[in-house]
Amino acid sequence: MILITGGLGYIGSHTVVKLLEQNKEIIILDNLYNSKIEVLDNIVKITNKKPKFYQTDLLDINGLEEIFQQNHIDCVIHFAGLKAVGESVAEPLKYFNNNITGTINLLITMQKYNCKKIIFSSSATVYGTAETMPLDENSPLGVTNPYGRTKLVIEEMLNDLYESDNEFGIVLLRYFNPIGAHKSGLIGENPNGIPNNLMPYICKVAKGELPQLNVFGNDYDTVDGTGVRDYIHVEDLAEGHVLSYNKIKSTKGIYTYNLGTGNGYSVLQVINAFERANNLKINYKIVDRRPGDVATVYADTNKAEDELGFKAIYGIEDMCRDSWNVHKIDS
Ligand code: NAD
Ligand code: UFG
Repeated sequence: MILITGGLGYIGSHTVVKLLEQNKEIIILDNLYNSKIEVLDNIVKITNKKPKFYQTDLLDINGLEEIFQQNHIDCVIHFAGLKAVGESVAEPLKYFNNNITGTINLLITMQKYNCKKIIFSSSATVYGTAETMPLDENSPLGVTNPYGRTKLVIEEMLNDLYESDNEFGIVLLRYFNPIGAHKSGLIGENPNGIPNNLMPYICKVAKGELPQLNVFGNDYDTVDGTGVRDYIHVEDLAEGHVLSYNKIKSTKGIYTYNLGTGNGYSVLQVINAFERANNLKINYKIVDRRPGDVATVYADTNKAEDELGFKAIYGIEDMCRDSWNVHKIDS
């Protein structure tokens, strides 16, 4: 049985669908802080399967223990966490408590019940302000905000845990920029309020809910002066978790992989791709750089390809089409 923490969230729900489609036995844990119970209904609509769901907070260690008592869990895919960079700067303790304490509770409970397989959602943010591209798994690490610090600390904790007990099988997945959605449009990313990230913002502009996109700077040393990122379809990302699970279900060790496409796209290229894919115009304006942003980030994907057999298959226009599909259905 695989326990999926944060399984009703954006990336978790897509991974749940893939695992159910492969007839894996799973349980979802989520406190619904950043997701809605309707996601569970939509998972059922897509897969015709109804996974067991616990509305439990990782900070509630007794609640966690009940789940491990009631089920034979042999692997955890750990998505649950808070992820808003700006909020983490304003409220670091909230982030340290939720992400780090939550993970410690999870690991203590896993160890107590002899569950020694875990796949952890890390982020390319652990590469800090590294400037040599592409980023491979040995690129220098660093943090630029409390959210990033939680990811790095948890990676380090998992390394220490493995050192203490070589029976563990651990995969640290460093995601680049996940966008896109399931082709049904039934699950996806639709944050409340004003989004921080590019694709949700573009969708709100396309929908007429926001007047225009602010493009943060056009004086970077990039193809057209705007920031370049490695956008990856959430369906590819979900597949990366299935491959990681297949690897560690029978292997011990600790492994770190980038999950990206290896291709960088500028903000203007993403806007163009979105317009082409959806036959829409996006109103935008160039404004000042956003503090903390770097010019270019993209992944070296060789290690994930060699060791997991992972290769992203979706292109930027697919990602733009599927991101918009969720909003179209929603409106
Ligand atoms: P999300 O917010 O959509 O999903 C996270 C889920 O975890 C939510 O459903 C939330 O309710 C739940 N959750 C949070 N704290 C919890 C707690 N204490 N107990 C139980 N449930 C809790 O986020 P996502 O985009 O799906 O991201 C999943 C993971 O991937 C996160 O750890 C995030 O930091 C990491 N990540 C995301 C991105 C990205 O751009 N989306 C990039 C890199 C890494
Ligand atoms: N951008 C705009 N306008 C917007 C939003 C973003 O021009 O309204 C630009 C940014 O300047 C950047 C690019 O679009 O050049 C992508 O920005 P996002 O905010 O979508 O993504 P980031 O790469 O800045 O951040 C993401 C995650 C973080 C994670 C980081 C590093 O959101 O959680 O990648 O992996 F820490």
